[in-house]
Amino acid sequence: MSNIELSVKDLSVYYGEKQAVKNVSLDFESKQVTALIGPSGCGKSTFLRSLNRMNDLISGAKITGEIWIGDENINDPKTDVVLLRQRIGMVWQRPNPFHKSIYENIAFGPRYHGIKDRKKLDQIVEESLTKAALWDETKDRLHRSALSLSGGQQQRLCIARSIAVSPSIILMDEPASALDPVSSSKIEELIAELKKEYCIIIVTHNMHQAARVSQKTAFFLMGEVVEFDDTDKIFTNPKEKRTDDYISGRFG
Ligand SMILES: Nc1ncnc2c1ncn2[C@@H]1O[C@H](COP(=O)(O)OP(=O)(O)O)[C@@H](O)[C@H]1O
Ligand SMILES: [Mg+2]
Repeated sequence: MSNIELSVKDLSVYYGEKQAVKNVSLDFESKQVTALIGPSGCGKSTFLRSLNRMNDLISGAKITGEIWIGDENINDPKTDVVLLRQRIGMVWQRPNPFHKSIYENIAFGPRYHGIKDRKKLDQIVEESLTKAALWDETKDRLHRSALSLSGGQQQRLCIARSIAVSPSIILMDEPASALDPVSSSKIEELIAELKKEYCIIIVTHNMHQAARVSQKTAFFLMGEVVEFDDTDKIFTNPKEKRTDDYISGRFG
């Protein structure tokens, strides 16, 4: 039985002449966290952005290869990217809530996808905030600005916003790196919870974090995946010398 949620085959990404991602093939399982690690500039964010076609927005970026969800190759130009980004949510390094109320941040996506009934929207807002471990802190201030929240709360709001449109996959690019240690550990706890329901792919430069939150780890170096294996294996007994050198802090 296969639990593969997303299958990437021979993916390459170019910025003009420069190849930032080189022939990467990786499978991502449902209900699992996969960490992407590697030194700065090795193509982790570029790879992650191509998974929900965010690189389409960068002029001069060219992508080749296949990205399969079930029997659909989402790298096909015919793919509806709006629907795609509903299925594959994204959380960025810096929390980027809309300049709207907490409620409206969550209700925006479902409303955009056609849900108009107020009761139903209320329910989605409560469920999403609850899943993002933010309900108790916000239930009495739903109509206040999202910008009145702390950085850590804003990041959990962004996670709630991505959950609100029922994705199956959530991409996170260094989601805790702009946060203080307490907020950061709350995000880690939240990821452990969300894993029960979603396929999560997280870029992190923090190797302790990768070891704590993920079950699988891919080590990127200069656009290539050097090694992909169980997180335990990567951090205790990697096959490749370059992986060992990186995780033991010899470079990067
Ligand atoms: N929008 C862009 N235009 C041109 N080059 C880019 C762009 N974004 C990233 N790059 C280049 O692609 C390479 C990979 O970058 P990135 O994916 O951001 O790496 P990482 O997330 O691992 O730090 C780097 O050399 C970077 O300078
Ligand atoms: Mg990056």
